[in-house]
Amino acid sequence: MIKILTPHQIELMKHSGKVMQQIFIGLKTVLKPGISTKEIDEWVYKFIINHDCKPSCLNYMGYPASVCTSVNDVVVHGIPSEKKILADGDIISVDICVNYKGVHTDACRTYLIGNVSPEAKRLVEVTKQSFFEAISGLKAGDKTGDIGYKVQTFVEKNGYSVVRDLQGHGIGTSIHQDPGIPNFGKAGTGTVLKEGMAICIEPMVNMGDYEVVFEKDGWTCRTKDGSLAAHYENTMLVHSDRVELLTFEGNDEQV
Ligand code: MF3
Ligand code: CO
Repeated sequence: MIKILTPHQIELMKHSGKVMQQIFIGLKTVLKPGISTKEIDEWVYKFIINHDCKPSCLNYMGYPASVCTSVNDVVVHGIPSEKKILADGDIISVDICVNYKGVHTDACRTYLIGNVSPEAKRLVEVTKQSFFEAISGLKAGDKTGDIGYKVQTFVEKNGYSVVRDLQGHGIGTSIHQDPGIPNFGKAGTGTVLKEGMAICIEPMVNMGDYEVVFEKDGWTCRTKDGSLAAHYENTMLVHSDRVELLTFEGNDEQV
């Protein structure tokens, strides 16, 4: 069921969206070769708590950390670990959900660590661009398939593939709500977007094939062929004539 947000809930989400953006800006200086993904998790946890919010991911369906840190061929849901140390040339997506007084925002950036190959950089840029292609002209009355179609067309035109097993979603009083928002599909199909709902659009893009595998930990999702993957996500509010990004105002990642 699609939930329409109250004006008060929207205000709360705007607040956590601003906290989220400060986190992404702060991470630019935190993310360096030599840091462990566990240290990233601790930094984000403290930032969220110090801003009177809660990390929605911690203990969500048993998830053991506050953020997802997905390095290189890990597509999404990488679990932070003191053993996973960032190296020069890595790409890492940091996916964060912030809970402010019972409503949530969800966003992700893929960062470049040190000297990254031009190929990897291009993957990260195309992934981000596919998100902006999808929201261009998007408004109430459009369908979820319109989003998937735009993401897929742009990504495949650039020689990459979109992950099929995971998708974007509605968001509000819980992080995952109806409707599901696939990153592939046919324009004019799927669920109609309504004014006053919030959604997360999150292209997950593989350099190689679209197939993914899940590790025994039940979370870590990798490309099956070992190719690099990138992820980009924002939470947005649907209006009659546009969408309003709640977790993005300007360039906040290291691309
Ligand atoms: N942003 C992630 C998603 O939409 C949320 C991860 S929370 C976790 O899948 F607990 F599932 F890690
Ligand atoms: Co999400």
